[in-house]
Amino acid sequence: MNKTVVSPSILAANFSNFENAISQIDSSGAAWVHIDVMDGCFVPNITFGPQLVRSIRPLTKALLDVHLMIIQPDRFIDKFAEAGADSITFHYEAETHCQKFLTEIRSLGKKAGMAIVPSTPCSALEEVLPYIDIALVMTVNPGFGGQTLIPECLEKVEKLAKMREKSGLTFRISVDGGINGQTAKDAVNAGADTLVMGSAFFNSSNQRELVTGLEKK
Ligand code: DX5
Ligand code: ZN
Repeated sequence: MNKTVVSPSILAANFSNFENAISQIDSSGAAWVHIDVMDGCFVPNITFGPQLVRSIRPLTKALLDVHLMIIQPDRFIDKFAEAGADSITFHYEAETHCQKFLTEIRSLGKKAGMAIVPSTPCSALEEVLPYIDIALVMTVNPGFGGQTLIPECLEKVEKLAKMREKSGLTFRISVDGGINGQTAKDAVNAGADTLVMGSAFFNSSNQRELVTGLEKK
């Protein structure tokens, strides 16, 4: 069983001071940092490129967990890998040749992740399971932080956890969107082991307690 990790999302940080955001994440004890890359096309918002990953890389030893919400993500895999990403996750809905590019990510020495939006069934992941290190189940429609988790998405997490057990594979199951202290517990009970948390982390008055309470599970 994978150890539960929290991956605070800097989408909810103050964009004028990422150094401070990384320092908050490190002080909380969180092992991962989630970086949401949006292109204004796959999702209706624009955020960061590889340069931000390059700037953050020397600031922390935490795993840099890059989530590409962009069309034709294959154009940017090598750029994010070179910039210092440790895992690169792209969307099933945005790429035709998923296995090819998941393999490319692994060949660059990075963890390969496949994400699905709420309307995509988890059965869509069936053929790519041997190629992934992370299955990212979006628990909101992507584009913005601070949304409310769609409860049906946790049923997908349960199904995926069963698929994982049956296959004997060990990929992580990540949940992303509307995760807070309570929904995180529901997600872990459903089978998730990787908790992306934006607003709930940066709005928390005790980030360390929040993270350690969830990571010890
Ligand atoms: C949403 C992003 C999430 C976002 C989550 O499109 O993929 O990673 O940062 O934010 P919260 O935790 O605020 O819902
Ligand atoms: Zn994300």
